[in-house]
Amino acid sequence: MLNLKFSHNAHIQFRPIRPSDLEVLEKLHADMFPIRYESEFFQNVVNGRDIISWGAVDCNQPNGQDDELIGFVTARIVLAKDSEIEDFLRYDSARSNHTLVYILTLGVAEGYRNLGIASSLIHEVIKYASTIPTCRAVYLHVISYNNPAIYLYKKMSFRCIRRLPAFYFINSQHYDAYLFIYYMSGGRSPCSPIVGVASVKDKMRESRLRWFGHVKRRSIDAPVRRCERLAMESLRRGRGRPKKYRGEVIIHDMALLQFTEDMTLDRRVWRSRNKVEVSSLRF
Ligand SMILES: CC(C)(COP(=O)(O)OP(=O)(O)OC[C@H]1O[C@@H](n2cnc3c(N)ncnc32)[C@H](O)[C@@H]1OP(=O)(O)O)[C@@H](O)C(=O)NCCC(=O)NCCS
Repeated sequence: MLNLKFSHNAHIQFRPIRPSDLEVLEKLHADMFPIRYESEFFQNVVNGRDIISWGAVDCNQPNGQDDELIGFVTARIVLAKDSEIEDFLRYDSARSNHTLVYILTLGVAEGYRNLGIASSLIHEVIKYASTIPTCRAVYLHVISYNNPAIYLYKKMSFRCIRRLPAFYFINSQHYDAYLFIYYMSGGRSPCSPIVGVASVKDKMRESRLRWFGHVKRRSIDAPVRRCERLAMESLRRGRGRPKKYRGEVIIHDMALLQFTEDMTLDRRVWRSRNKVEVSSLRF
């Protein structure tokens, strides 16, 4: 039980989610997430079919609903070799029967936030994962603008491994996601050449696009843009020249990240969307 700084002396307890939680669980998800979950997902959660879960309840609720969910976390066990993060694990972890715990959803009702409830729920997941001998990591995705959640995962020693452009498609709009991993013993790759190369590539792309944004925001007469025109005028390729011109590489970079040229006009947006997390290089 937690000791909370809360107006009515809440007493929070954690327990598995069960069938009687179905309605409240659906409502909490609908209130908190921009994504709609299938009813099959909720059925699987409350019946523990392929999904593990914990709920938080306030035993001291003023309305007497002392068993009603005010927070939840849902997760699934996946095989490391089938997961998208196998490159971020030790070589042998990804090759054998090792497993991972993937956090599907996490949420705390608004009136109960910043009281440490989500931290405790994640702690339950980590504790559970550490009892599985084959488990090498707990991981999850978070939408790039969800600062409270990002702060929380960093605080709980999850490592932000990568920014995934346009990972979510919500209401006809793309949003990036961060991939966070909490390594269990022996799960972390001590030095993965694959990750190292990929990250340096990301950083080089970031630098190219930062320069491109800088150039595009200058006036058409600025010296830097005259160079751009000179480059376009001398289009003939000689022997031994690089296979691609810088402009071609930038077009490819922009297509990859689904950037458009008019985005360069807002420096703040351009730089934040283009940013590659430094933590992804720490391997
Ligand atoms: C993200 C969420 C689960 C956090 O739940 P919570 O119970 O408030 O989390 P905790 O109290 O355990 O920890 C929150 C930490 O984040 C910090 N935090 C809260 N809001 C913040 C914000 N806007 N910016 C930065 N940090 C913030 C708190 O200060 C706290 O850190 P501290 O212990 O150092 O003070 C909750 O905000 C939520 O349910 N959001 C909607 C659903 C959601 O986004 N889920 C995550 C999907 S990936």
